Amino acid sequence: MKDTILELRGIKKYFPIQKGLLKRTVGYIKAVDHVDLFVKRNQIVGIVGESGCGKSTLARCILRLYEIDDGKIFFNGKDVTTLTKKELKSYRQKVQIVFQDPYSSLNPKLTIKSSLMDGVKQANVEKPKRIEKISELLELVGLPKDSMHKYPHQFSGGQRQRICIARALSLNPELIVCDEPVSALDVSVQAQIINLLMELKEKIGLSLIFITHDLNLVGYFCDYVYVMYMGKIVECAPTLDIFKNPHHPYTRLLLDSIPGKRKQRPDSVFINKQDSQLNTQCGFAPRCKYFSKKCENNLDLREIEKGHWVRCSLI
Ligand SMILES: Nc1ncnc2c1ncn2[C@@H]1O[C@H](COP(=O)(O)OP(=O)(O)O)[C@@H](O)[C@H]1O
Ligand SMILES: [Mg+2]
Repeated sequence: MKDTILELRGIKKYFPIQKGLLKRTVGYIKAVDHVDLFVKRNQIVGIVGESGCGKSTLARCILRLYEIDDGKIFFNGKDVTTLTKKELKSYRQKVQIVFQDPYSSLNPKLTIKSSLMDGVKQANVEKPKRIEKISELLELVGLPKDSMHKYPHQFSGGQRQRICIARALSLNPELIVCDEPVSALDVSVQAQIINLLMELKEKIGLSLIFITHDLNLVGYFCDYVYVMYMGKIVECAPTLDIFKNPHHPYTRLLLDSIPGKRKQRPDSVFINKQDSQLNTQCGFAPRCKYFSKKCENNLDLREIEKGHWVRCSLI
């Protein structure tokens, strides 16, 4: 598919749980468990799920910062799962990441110019044009040119995140993975950063993955949303469908927790059962009101409407 920039097929990343002096592996944390995911060119794709569900691990797998245990990653149709060192360098230039915490992402001892220079050099900008390029990047993210002579501590959280975005852009990426980029920011500043990301998508034709624990945020600007629970995608659909027609009990729970959006519905009542008492592959079962004998059945993602997939035996 020509318009697909990123395709993940069955991505798996398990972390061993080791115990004792001999560090015997006694089990695994299934941080990312056979995830399939697509990003189309010039699209913003949201990945939503509560803390610990595997979002950052998935981001690191995409960036090839982690060796994956299984699965394939295709970028522009090319398999990037097995790359040579040189190829990996070029891939990591095309796919950038912006992290949650703009405070620790920037070296406090470097001016903004120095922080951005590395990327500009790596992107092969000729020496006489590098300063101009840095000015352009700052302008692109809505900061004055003379910011380049300042240090990170002279900026607010929102401005620092703009600098981090400029740094990601300095490498001319095609895709930026934003891992909770606004979670550390005030609500008013969150909107500004999101507007900036939307602008960049339009202006320079970027594709973006936006990772968040806040389903409310993705509604504003993502084209397509993946809902993740315990390492698995439990529902994915175009954003409007997720909001209008949520199917998975977990997606409904997330929607119900958006303040002022919906009334608390009985669907989302939290009930506690011991995992071990439930005969099912479904990770959400201990919290699911609808758990029944049917939940012993096949739990693959199934397409229930065009482009809308759900992993629930009850649907
Ligand atoms: N390097 C690691 N070693 C061992 N376990 C990890 C590591 N990174 C993450 N985990 C575990 O994997 C799960 C998913 O974590 P993470 O990807 O950070 O989730 P999220 O970003 O959604 O909060 C968690 O249970 C976490 O404790
Ligand atoms: Mg995370």
